[in-house]
Amino acid sequence: LSSAPPLQLGETYFRLYPEEVDPVWGNPCDDPRHIKIWSKNKSCESLPKFLVIGPQKTGTTALYTFLSMHPSIASNLPSPDTFEEIQFFNGNNYYRGLDWYMSFFPIHANSTGKYMFEKSATYFDGELVPKRAHALLPHAKVVTILISPAKRAYSWYQHTKAHGDPIANNYSFYQVITAGDSAPKALKDLRNRCLNPGKYAQHLERWLTFYPAQQVNIIDGEQLKSNPIDVMNELQRFLKIQPGFDYSTHLRFDNKKGFFCQVIGENRNKCLGKSKGRQYPPMDERSAKLLQRYYLSHNTALVKLLKKLGSRPIPQWLKDDLSTTS
Ligand code: A3P
Repeated sequence: LSSAPPLQLGETYFRLYPEEVDPVWGNPCDDPRHIKIWSKNKSCESLPKFLVIGPQKTGTTALYTFLSMHPSIASNLPSPDTFEEIQFFNGNNYYRGLDWYMSFFPIHANSTGKYMFEKSATYFDGELVPKRAHALLPHAKVVTILISPAKRAYSWYQHTKAHGDPIANNYSFYQVITAGDSAPKALKDLRNRCLNPGKYAQHLERWLTFYPAQQVNIIDGEQLKSNPIDVMNELQRFLKIQPGFDYSTHLRFDNKKGFFCQVIGENRNKCLGKSKGRQYPPMDERSAKLLQRYYLSHNTALVKLLKKLGSRPIPQWLKDDLSTTS
């Protein structure tokens, strides 16, 4: 038996199966033959058990911080480029491979037995993310947070502006969200980052074609803001984490910050940084009206989807967004 040299073999293979040029990483631990040839210092445990998928500006950092306080939960190691987020399943990091991803979840004395997770807020609306995530982590639980999509869009605009982005600083929010297709690319990109993630039903449907509804948890971001203790208790039940962590003694409302923060002493709280819970003027009336119309069909589809999924209450912000359309 003889074979062509590896390079030639590879070329022939991809000529026969061109669709496989883009890799989809599966779980090596699902196949005994793979485990057999795997290096001894690899572990099937070096993968997250749940993903917080975003979208951006819905309170993902608060959720990440509250989860990280839990003694039985551990997040990934920080990334030198994207800090607490690995952003593996979207973008070019995916091509760095499985080993790269797993190196963020090292198994050592203080992580053994912990419920590991990662939060990357860009996963929510990433076209390929649910497929890729499911191929590697079919049993993982998926956690998403939703707030009013109009509010989310405005928060993203303010975030970009605060980061010194020239487009956000030179164009009003209204100009950004009404930019036409002949507008400069950078303006259209900002418009899309403001508007597209808020088409919640569309993105959720994509996740639900890969993950069964029982594995998907939808958090009301307004509840997370106003009542994080109940939200965290509910989430612990969903994740089936035992013993439960009593958040009522670890979170309290900070009057100065205007948000719930971590209790670190009798009169001392540790709040999220200045970039979370920013102060900015309210959205102008014209943009609010336009976004209400823009998101009408998406919000209606979201109500339908939540009803279909059952046992999920319709958030108050969603009712409000749908109630005053003129
Ligand atoms: P704003 O800064 O627009 O108010 P993310 O972490 O996904 O980027 O989301 C940021 C948003 O989280 C903030 O948006 C803020 O409203 C919200 N948030 C929810 N709970 C918070 C908390 N405990 N502390 C600070 N911000 C919180």
